[in-house]
Amino acid sequence: MPKKTIDDLGNLAGKRVLVRVDFNVPLDKKTGAVKNDRRIRGALPTIRKLLDAGASVIAMSHLGRPEKATPDERKNLTMDQVAAAFGTLLGRPVTKAADEVVGPAVTAAVAAMKPGDVVLLENLRFDPREQKNDPAFAAAVAALGDAYVNDAFGTCHNDKDASMVAVPAALKAAGKPRAVGLLVAKELEVIDTLLTAPKRPMIAIMGGAKVSDKIAFIRVLLQKVDTLLIGGKMTYTFLKAGGGDVGGTRVADEELAAATPLLAEVGKKITLPVDSLAAKSDDLTQTQVCEGTIPAGFEGVDIGPRTVAAYSALLKTAGTVIWNGPVGWFEQPAFSGGTKGIAEAMAASPATTVVGGGETAQAVEQFGFDEKISHVSTGGGAFLAYVEGQKFQSLAQIDDRA
Ligand code: 3PG
Ligand code: MG
Repeated sequence: MPKKTIDDLGNLAGKRVLVRVDFNVPLDKKTGAVKNDRRIRGALPTIRKLLDAGASVIAMSHLGRPEKATPDERKNLTMDQVAAAFGTLLGRPVTKAADEVVGPAVTAAVAAMKPGDVVLLENLRFDPREQKNDPAFAAAVAALGDAYVNDAFGTCHNDKDASMVAVPAALKAAGKPRAVGLLVAKELEVIDTLLTAPKRPMIAIMGGAKVSDKIAFIRVLLQKVDTLLIGGKMTYTFLKAGGGDVGGTRVADEELAAATPLLAEVGKKITLPVDSLAAKSDDLTQTQVCEGTIPAGFEGVDIGPRTVAAYSALLKTAGTVIWNGPVGWFEQPAFSGGTKGIAEAMAASPATTVVGGGETAQAVEQFGFDEKISHVSTGGGAFLAYVEGQKFQSLAQIDDRA
């Protein structure tokens, strides 16, 4: 059943709309400044459309994991700098509603809002009830708005976050409508199309460190794709599981156990790199390109040049490409060649190209190729979970279209 979108919310003139966004953005560790505003930009079309329809917007998000932060780190997790960045991008003043998440000061700030106004609530996770789907907290948040919009794709898999589940439930109980925003609608449409009607051949590129975290994702992909290209640290897990010598590259036993059942697909659907860039563990400036075995004292840090060329050639012939996980230690400029090369080949490919969020999105942006990719997801964990076929409680809360 299709879900209500913001176009189905009826006349919004003078209405207050609660919009759950995912402004959980990377911050500068020292200053707390917003380091990457892609998730904020992603929500702007929804916010603008609501404002143009005469509504006022109460935006809300979590930021980081304050429950695990030191008091100093926690200071950087207030929404002040995010509100400022949001306002600049939107081209209108955005204020933080109050220093509390809910309470009398917020209620007063919201009561004073006029059509076209935007406020951002304080970091939802400053209230411990947020991550417990607490009904009393949810009722207090829900009371602030006349309608609810979920435009927080990156958080859609969090089933215990009140703002994602208990808040829309409370709006429903009060007879108020709930819809998805334009960003969520687009993310779902792109991924649904990718999984149900991809242009072939369909190629996936998987990187990152852990096979164990992505095992369900890999299994789903293997059913869908024609070829799965492996890169990143998980390369060495596969090589070692297959009896190869990976030198000083550390591979945990649980990773070997996760990769072993997939070895039967290596050489069939799964393709491993033909070469690697390896660096000396105690002096990373000493590198060599290895085909096959990595010597003792060295560890794999990137895919090698022959692999970049082979993967790039395959991407040219693809109908659909889905990429998740950097193929090397790209934060180190000397080891970024593989990830940059794949990003470049994705950008040049005539295929429909999709990048699953998190670090991969960051890499594609850092190398300046994001505008040439068909879709860069704002979801990290949510992207993986949605592809895996998990059913999200957050989306179950959204009203079906009449
Ligand atoms: C994310 O960045 O994955 C989302 O914003 C969810 O954040 P969380 O992993 O801290 O729940
Ligand atoms: Mg997560």
